Formats: sequence, structure tokens, C-alpha cells
Amino acid sequence: MSSCVRRRYLDLLGSIYIYNEHRGYTAIDRVIEVAKRRAPQDLHFIAALTQHRADERKHYDMFRRWFSLRGTMPFAVDRTCGHIDRFVEIMFRSAIDDLDTQALVTDDRLFARLCRVVALTERRGYRQVEMLLRSASIRSDPTLTKIFEIIEKDEPSHWAPYEAWLARHGLRRSRWWERVIDGFIHSELLLLKLPLLFVRPGLPRRSRWADADAGDATAQLAPAGRAAGSPDPVPAGIGSMVRPADNGTVRHTETTP
Ligand SMILES: [Fe+2]
Ligand SMILES: [Fe+2]
Repeated sequence: MSSCVRRRYLDLLGSIYIYNEHRGYTAIDRVIEVAKRRAPQDLHFIAALTQHRADERKHYDMFRRWFSLRGTMPFAVDRTCGHIDRFVEIMFRSAIDDLDTQALVTDDRLFARLCRVVALTERRGYRQVEMLLRSASIRSDPTLTKIFEIIEKDEPSHWAPYEAWLARHGLRRSRWWERVIDGFIHSELLLLKLPLLFVRPGLPRRSRWADADAGDATAQLAPAGRAAGSPDPVPAGIGSMVRPADNGTVRHTETTP
């Protein structure tokens, strides 16, 4: 693979990942809200979901840092590249943001369906990362390799609380047709959307970080990319990651890939 092709492939892959990480932690906010209203006494479950949310935010920050080090912004991919967006749309006939919170609070069947969607998405993500870590193009980038190794380590703790909730309520982990839908969404993304985006000329890049609209202070840390002529305010050093501090802000830590 030529370096030009590899760079575009990695940029595109990173763009799809950073979109999904952002979608992930913002969507989990909804799940946490529902879980708290359903059973405020179930502190163990709520704590597990909160940790899941923190991990997805950490993943988002790592990709953001990776793009900053490359001196560029992610491609502007949208919800058509979001695994959880597509899964929720098919399973609930509704966008994530339009989900009926009250119905999820009162209807066990709906909440169980949401748990299965999240758990299947996480298990899918884990298998995908395992595959990527065997890829030579990923291995050619030590920082990206380190990011995927961290995600691989985190992932099992992400599906566990949802599957535990299903088990506690005597429900199955997944149904065969839900696994088929999950597989279809994944294949569609990998075999159709990614190649089409790869060859699309003039694919625009984001001009703002996805978390900028949330008023998050971290949005101001990274550059708008070399194209915007901004210097990189993030301390130099390959393998430098970010992780959320306890107070919800972001601090930089050095990791050696
Ligand atoms: Fe993630
Ligand atoms: Fe995850």
C-alpha cells in the first residue's frame, strides 16, 4: 500500500471511529438517564454505565489527540457511518435522539432491546479491533496501534453490565435476527460505505470538533488542522494520549507504544 493510500485509509478509519466514539458516549448519557429513572437504587448498574461512558469519552479523546498529532481534522462523516445510529434506527424505527425516554423507563421489553443493541455493538467493536490489530496498515502507526490496544482492553467491560442486566431479568443475551442485523450493518459499513468514501473526491473535513458544541473545554485544546494554519497546542511526542481526569476535564499523559 502506498503511503498516500495508507494515509487516506487511516484518516478515514480514524474519522469513522471518532464519530462512533462521540456518538457512543453521548448516546450512553440517554441510557444512564433512563437507568436512573427506572431503578435509582441500582447503584452498581448505574456506576457500570457511568464507567462505560467515561471509557468512550476517553476513546474519543485519544482519536482526537491522534488527529491533532497528524495536523489534520477528521473527515466529516455522519450518522450513516454510525453503527449504533443504524442499529437503533432499525430496531426502534427512530433516531437515537428521538428515542422515547419515557417508554424506555416504563417498558421492560424496550429497555431490554436497548441493552441488547448496546451489548451487540460492543461485542462487534471488540471483534473489529482484534482484526484491525492484525492489520499491517494499523501496525505501521504506533500511536494508532496503542489506541486500539487500549480499546481492546476496555471493550469486554462495556458489554458486561448490559448482559448482566438481561441475565438478572431472565432474558436472552441476543436473538438470532438481531445478530443478523448487526452483521448487516457492519458489512454495509465495511464493504460499501468505507470504499465509497475512500474514492469520493473532495470529501470534506470537519471544521470543528464534535464535542465543541457541548461547550467542553477540551474542544479548545486541539488545532483546526494545518489547513487552518493553527499551531498544535498539544505537547509534542508520539504516543502522547489524553485521558479524562476525575473532574471530567482532560489531562495529557505520556504512554510509550
Ligand atoms: Fe469506544
Ligand atoms: Fe466500547
